[in-house]
Amino acid sequence: MKVLVAYATAAGSTVGVAARIAAVLRAHDHEVTTYSVDEVADAGEYDAYVIGSAVHDQAWLPSGAAFLTRERGTLRGKPVWLFSVGLPDSLRGPLRRWAGLEEPTILSHLREDVTPVEHRLFSGVVRAEMLGKLGALVFRAVGGRFGDFRDWQEIEVWAGDIAGVLADIEAATR
Ligand SMILES: Cc1cc2nc3c(=O)[nH]c(=O)nc-3n(C[C@H](O)[C@H](O)[C@H](O)COP(=O)(O)O)c2cc1C
Repeated sequence: MKVLVAYATAAGSTVGVAARIAAVLRAHDHEVTTYSVDEVADAGEYDAYVIGSAVHDQAWLPSGAAFLTRERGTLRGKPVWLFSVGLPDSLRGPLRRWAGLEEPTILSHLREDVTPVEHRLFSGVVRAEMLGKLGALVFRAVGGRFGDFRDWQEIEVWAGDIAGVLADIEAATR
């Protein structure tokens, strides 16, 4: 199937997640194109979509959310998976639980434009310089850790599950 993997990023870590998802789908013989949401020329030419964004303040980046709004008509009736890249695994204790709870908040805005087959919140990369001096101090003070928290195995398993559903759809429409 022709699959579009599109992403919105501020600091680059979501690009890596999108690339890994695309690689898994390609390994399952799908024709995959990976673009930033701002580069997609004709969203209508794909059979399925995996779209993701970095999370800032419990929401997708404006460019990612705008893509879903812009293309809501195109996406309607087609299989769409959404992923968000945030920082849950960089936190510990009560804050870790709080971060896990942000998923419904993130998704509630997106659902106005698209009903995904599934949504997944992954952990990304948190660097001190992304948060500014004060932000980094506060983040450390509440138990936050800096680093690359992308769980490649979790991402690959999820992409493999998507490939499985796409194979089922292909078989059903053959
Ligand atoms: C200003 C700012 C706000 C953020 N807000 C959140 C948030 O509300 N929830 C969350 O899970 N992660 C949050 N993050 C963490 C980012 O989503 C994470 O660093 C992600 O890997 C960034 O993706 P990118 O490198 O593709 O931009 C925030 C990061 C920054 C810099």
